[in-house]
Amino acid sequence: DQDPRIHGIQTKIRVVPDFPKQGIMFQDITTLLLDPKAFKDTIDLFVERYKGKNISVVAGIEARGFIFGPPIALAIGAKFVPLRKPKKLPGEVISEEYILEYGRDCLEMHVGAVEPGERALVVDDLIATGGTLCAAMNLLGTLTLNQFRWFYTGTADTYLKLSIVVHEATKPLTFTW
Ligand code: PRP
Repeated sequence: DQDPRIHGIQTKIRVVPDFPKQGIMFQDITTLLLDPKAFKDTIDLFVERYKGKNISVVAGIEARGFIFGPPIALAIGAKFVPLRKPKKLPGEVISEEYILEYGRDCLEMHVGAVEPGERALVVDDLIATGGTLCAAMNLLGTLTLNQFRWFYTGTADTYLKLSIVVHEATKPLTFTW
């Protein structure tokens, strides 16, 4: 049985056809953020799932992982690590390039933000091709984390908007959606 909060969350995510270009069904979570209950329900669902699971790092993917990641990190008692677009972080970084639905991009993480052996939860709003998620996992994998946990809060036409996929791997996964 699906948690009743999920339907409420789903209805608050606006779908914008042909944005940012033809053929893309953009899943707009800004409309979810306008509804304090739906926003809180989103955070609570993940906190309930991941609290007490010995997760010491929440890694948020720029930009919308910076919205959902920090409240989850605070609630589960983990540190927050931003995975940023290129040339934004001032310290020493490791980088991972990836291919997007509409272009190429790169994520960077500060060296030293995560220690080998830590358990990390990777947070973003959605996946489309999985390229961004793979890049995030490669970054964390470079630091030999022993486990990856990923979730999304986003939507895409027909599949459940707030389902959770947990990957446990010692190396980066090839991701097919
Ligand atoms: C969106 C979304 C994910 C990514 C998913 O970000 O927030 O990070 O695309 O796509 P993928 O699974 O095909 O990699 P976007 O590229 O729009 O960047 P932004 O959040 O910085 O605008």
